[in-house]
Amino acid sequence: MIRDVLRMGDPRLLQVSKPVERFGTPELAALIHDMQDTMAALNGAGLAAPQIGVGLRVVMFGVARNPRYPDAEEVPFTVLCNPVLTPLAEEFEDGWEGCLSVPGMRGVVPRYTRLRYSGFDPKGTPITREASDFHARVVQHECDHLDGVLYPMRIRDLRQFGFTEELFPGEDIADD
Ligand code: NI
Repeated sequence: MIRDVLRMGDPRLLQVSKPVERFGTPELAALIHDMQDTMAALNGAGLAAPQIGVGLRVVMFGVARNPRYPDAEEVPFTVLCNPVLTPLAEEFEDGWEGCLSVPGMRGVVPRYTRLRYSGFDPKGTPITREASDFHARVVQHECDHLDGVLYPMRIRDLRQFGFTEELFPGEDIADD
């Protein structure tokens, strides 16, 4: 079921979410199903449970190859519960981000370029992966939601924050 996505200003987006304690339950499966439906309907690159008002440490992300953006890196569709991020390099890189909870806007955010992420799939099977660049950026953005952090809170230069239509006129950019 497609759920409403909370928008910046809703205090629930600022809360720290709780860990998933029981895996493989119908409740967790239903949550993930709703998140997947919602993310697909809005063409998002990722979604975190608190964005639909559920304060659990569950994120999902994934970017399919798109012929219109041949340079865009593919990110495998992943559901991650109780994620833990470990940076593997000290460098940050600036990059444009958007968020379904901040519709119609984009901002430049510094993120670690390389990291390891681990967590569990919905059945409780451990997942560990290394990621860099765009993949690493998407994971950091989604996991921030679990700690009540929205990307505008990380923007260093607010001149690089604005409405997508004004920043990138004429470009067809998804509203995520
Ligand atoms: Ni977001």
